[in-house]
Amino acid sequence: MSVNKQIKKVTTNTLLKMKSSGEKISMITAYDFSFARIFDEAGIDIILVGDSASNVMAGFETTLPITLDQMIYHAQSVVRGIDRCLVVVDMPFGSYQSNSEIALASAIRIMKETGGHSIKLEGGEEVLDSIKKIVGAGVPVMGHLGLTPQSIYQFGTYTVRAKEEVEAEKLKKDALLLQSAGCFAIVLEKIPALLAKQVSETLHIPTIGIGAGMHCDGQVLVMHDMLGINTEFKPRFLRQYLNMHEQITSAVKQYVMDVKNRDFPNEQEQY
Ligand code: KIV
Repeated sequence: MSVNKQIKKVTTNTLLKMKSSGEKISMITAYDFSFARIFDEAGIDIILVGDSASNVMAGFETTLPITLDQMIYHAQSVVRGIDRCLVVVDMPFGSYQSNSEIALASAIRIMKETGGHSIKLEGGEEVLDSIKKIVGAGVPVMGHLGLTPQSIYQFGTYTVRAKEEVEAEKLKKDALLLQSAGCFAIVLEKIPALLAKQVSETLHIPTIGIGAGMHCDGQVLVMHDMLGINTEFKPRFLRQYLNMHEQITSAVKQYVMDVKNRDFPNEQEQY
């Protein structure tokens, strides 16, 4: 299906309409102005300013170290690059878990200081009060269930979640709770495709999958993974569309050689 050119700006209502018409939703992460501009012009529906910035931009092993100030900086840069798509900003670890007042204050900072359109936070029942408070203040909230990377030290591994019945039942219950608390969409990360199908069919809000199979209402990938900037991360769910690591390496090697050989700059490349 081609991108719907009738729609000027993607809003949370657009996403609901896309779910009911069967148009799949495309989402990608971005952390800066230049890539955000390219992705927006390419017709992406949602840009996620993910806390995966902690991994792919800052080089940390987990998403836990990134701060609210750092997320705000990334989101401000992304928002300056977009015209059409919806921008979702991740609430970083520590900015919402302690209580709903702190969660609301963090969400308000994100909305006021970045110009982003919505926030995302991880978890189910345990963060429900915070979600209600943020939604109550008029801020659209995207949920995130399944493999929630901010809980990695509790999980102990990045393997597929909710394979056992108890965890799958909790996930289904949490998805319904998030929907009734007012979430406009839910990311389902690394769960069995059949479970994602059941959740997607039960909810009236869209599900956005990453490693959650073909039945989700949309898909999200981390830009560094799908563009092949990262080469070490090759999970089964990832489709790599480019090998930027190889292309950039060969371009930079060529540049180094051209400088060393006095081939760059030439007559035309100087004043
Ligand atoms: O931070 C992120 O990039 C995410 C995606 C993996 C959904 O939350």
